[in-house]
Amino acid sequence: MKKKITVPGIMATKGSDKKLSMVACYDYSSATLVEASNVDMILVGDSLGMAMLGYKGTVGVTVDDMVYHIKSVVKGAPNTFVVGDMPFGAYNASIDKAVENASRVFAEGGCDCVKMEGGMNTVPYIEAVVKAGIPVMGHIGLTPQTSALMGGFKVQGKSTAAAQLLVDTAKAIEAAGAFLINLEGIPVGVAKRITEELKIPTMGIGAGPYCDSQDLVWVDIMGYNEWTPKFAKKYCNFRTYVVDGLNKFAEEVNSGAFPTKEYSYNTVVEGFEVE
Ligand code: KIV
Repeated sequence: MKKKITVPGIMATKGSDKKLSMVACYDYSSATLVEASNVDMILVGDSLGMAMLGYKGTVGVTVDDMVYHIKSVVKGAPNTFVVGDMPFGAYNASIDKAVENASRVFAEGGCDCVKMEGGMNTVPYIEAVVKAGIPVMGHIGLTPQTSALMGGFKVQGKSTAAAQLLVDTAKAIEAAGAFLINLEGIPVGVAKRITEELKIPTMGIGAGPYCDSQDLVWVDIMGYNEWTPKFAKKYCNFRTYVVDGLNKFAEEVNSGAFPTKEYSYNTVVEGFEVE
């Protein structure tokens, strides 16, 4: 049976040969498949806003949405480490709100840590949540919750000053007590420098090969959509398989080929015989 990695186990991968893999997925059924695989961790990301709810971005996802989805994932993958995302507005209003919402995501959701996205402004909230006893994964670079400020989903840290700010922010997040940090949408050299300068492991999505670990999103890996982002590799042709299957089903229903006797309850009931 799969053995769940722990927070100290994740931290111990720093400087080792072990690169952890994490997939963002959002429901019981997909979680059962991740559980059956060798993928180490699941992120119940607020990207569920786009992947599950059809939103344009992650803003609009609530703490209630997160708790609902995390609960179903934890049921489907009891032996996989689950990261629960803190959505937009859940922590930047006050320290009390941050601790209250992180406690809901962690305790009601039943995940193994929370993820808090944002730059220097997020550091005091991360510190408070860690002090409350909740393990925190940071998330810097392309932070979708603030994509409006960035003018869209754009690669960050492209100037020397912006890259240095990312390095300083990563160090501040480490000092605040985060045990792991997600680097999203940043140039390879910047991710490499952050990875070298931190004692905690980095996990990259669109941050190149030098991060300690890597994460991707379920719908991208599986190939749900025709379009895949540049940084994501399609490991499955789910869309083609599923649409083919659906078309076969529709065709057999339309032609009357389904269901045959094989798929029917054939007990003969008196007065209700079929010829
Ligand atoms: O919400 C999410 O899926 C994420 C990943 C893109 C890192 O934050």
